[in-house]
Amino acid sequence: MAEKEISKAVISRLPRYYRYLGELLEDGVERISSNELSQKMKVTASQIRQDLNNFGGFGQQGYGYNVKYLYTEIAKILGIDRQHNLIIIGAGNLGQAIANYANFEKRGFVIKGMFDINPRLIGLVVRGIEIRGVDDLEQFIVDNNVQIAALTIPKMKAPEIADRLVKAGIKAIWNFAHVDLNTPEDVVVENVHLSESLMRLSYRVSNMQDQKNGVQKKL
Ligand code: NAI
Repeated sequence: MAEKEISKAVISRLPRYYRYLGELLEDGVERISSNELSQKMKVTASQIRQDLNNFGGFGQQGYGYNVKYLYTEIAKILGIDRQHNLIIIGAGNLGQAIANYANFEKRGFVIKGMFDINPRLIGLVVRGIEIRGVDDLEQFIVDNNVQIAALTIPKMKAPEIADRLVKAGIKAIWNFAHVDLNTPEDVVVENVHLSESLMRLSYRVSNMQDQKNGVQKKL
């Protein structure tokens, strides 16, 4: 694999390549040219070639890309060729929605447990996953070799729990709480904010409407 640092922009596009290649595989497609992939994904063919060249290309002139091979290699790059054990902190609406989504397991993300402080939730089982109190959180992380924690708790509570998680050996936080977390360098945080995504959508749709109505915006 390439030794050089791969840019965040390229990494952020890989899951989409992976998804399209998975669909091609399901349709029985064995190979595809960058031009065909470009038409499907609405990304320029040169962008695709540039992106995939970061990893040695995987393509051959005049042959295109071997779909299965590319799919497998991208999975390796994304680290989804192995199992990641995950816990969910906060078993409310969002935590339970994540727990109910079985497809994460297909990608190697195994939800080992859920935690909450609400006594009415503790002991309930969501899709086979028991909701536990936070008292045995640290021990559970060690016993179950948990790497990733999803944080679906109110923002006020998130920094304190994040500290506990880090001390217990968690290496990655999937943060849904609307707060920026301070974690050591060897702990990665991926913030997911649906409302930010919605605001970007709002910007685009408002701009489109303004352009249609001939409104000029000052920046
Ligand atoms: P919810 O109120 O249904 O669930 C929150 C759960 O966290 C409750 O069951 C509560 O008992 C538990 N909790 C509180 N403090 C805790 C602690 N210290 N340890 C363990 N559990 C604790 O709320 P909902 O709708 O599930 O949202 C959860 C969080 O996610 C909120 O902060 C909300 O703002 C955020 N959110 C973020 C989204 C995003 O796109 N990033 C989208 C929707 C919600």
